[in-house]
Amino acid sequence: MSAVKLLPGVYWVGVVDWNVRAFHGHTYITKRGSTYNSYLIVDEKIALIDTVYGPFSDQLLANIAEIVPPEKIDYIISNHGETDHSGSLPALKKACPNAKHFGTAKVKETLEKMYYLGLDLHVVKSGDTLSLGKKTLSFIEAPMLHWPDSMFTYLAEDALLFPNDAFGQHLASSARFSDEVDAGALIEEAEAYFANILWPFSSMVLRKIDELVKMKLPVKMIAPSHGVIWRKDPMQIVNSYVEWAKNTTRKKVVIAYETMWGSTEKMAYRIVDGLVSEGVEVKLYDVAHTDNTEMIREMLYARGYIFGSSTHDNNMLPNLAMFLEFLKGLKPTGRKAAAFGSFGWAGGAVKEMESFIASPGIEIVQPGLSVKFVPNADELKKCFEFGVEFAKKLV
Ligand code: FEO
Repeated sequence: MSAVKLLPGVYWVGVVDWNVRAFHGHTYITKRGSTYNSYLIVDEKIALIDTVYGPFSDQLLANIAEIVPPEKIDYIISNHGETDHSGSLPALKKACPNAKHFGTAKVKETLEKMYYLGLDLHVVKSGDTLSLGKKTLSFIEAPMLHWPDSMFTYLAEDALLFPNDAFGQHLASSARFSDEVDAGALIEEAEAYFANILWPFSSMVLRKIDELVKMKLPVKMIAPSHGVIWRKDPMQIVNSYVEWAKNTTRKKVVIAYETMWGSTEKMAYRIVDGLVSEGVEVKLYDVAHTDNTEMIREMLYARGYIFGSSTHDNNMLPNLAMFLEFLKGLKPTGRKAAAFGSFGWAGGAVKEMESFIASPGIEIVQPGLSVKFVPNADELKKCFEFGVEFAKKLV
């Protein structure tokens, strides 16, 4: 896509990656694609905020060239070193070899070790400013939102915040602004982004937002480095981040299970009935046929997690084990959990799941439920009661 004017002298020069489906390796399924946003500010001096993923370098340079010859760029700001935002630096270094480069001390360390280009990066700290002429950039370090090197850049004269990954969404679209896309898809992708990337750093998110509020910076637009730009009521996404980071949950349960021959699935369905009979909102997923990204998004608001697996070699099935490993890394807190599953000649999965998921943030609130081979009517009744009992623990 061509460059888009956001405000006088401020342009989006990023790229839309319509076809990306696996992001961060395969840890994030980007079912709606993504964008890598780069912003060009044209004043007496010309600044570029962040670049794009390396394979799209030519597109970035072509978009810049629609506005100014790339060699005219005076300053490059790296808000974050991850390759989806820095991958075009080698191409840029050739296109504008005299541009001065700015970022945090950690971003300098990151980029030096990633590209070995001898980048002469000028280290900036919170409170430092860079005049472009009539416009001024201010820098706000934002460690762990979501890397130690992360930084926000603020354009005071336009009340425009460039927070890099924070407030982003993996959403490819021909529109550039939040008020031009489907509102349901947008909030779903913003929620998925927070849950899958920023959840473990919730306390830092709250601290940074509190710090920004105390700075009393007017914010008319938030331009993240993925997805659309928050234009209409930009504080809406900031308020959502506060709600998510405060670990707000509701009477909701996510059941994630994996089944060998269908018995564990039969148990899962009756557990759902028990939960629903107590007025609980439920989401049920067979982990072998659902992507982690969607399940994790649903887990953000769920107060309870129930895990099910058939026993295989005295252990849980591998797709569930992988999912639990991923979930653990996101460090959910204040959640209640239980486990269930069927077995053949020897059990083991329920015990393994319980010992794996128990953590300071996840409390096992009732004994696990195991069924030998195929559940009979009495055992299915027990599954229903298992759901009812769990529902009563969700207060
Ligand atoms: Fe942390 Fe979008 O990269």
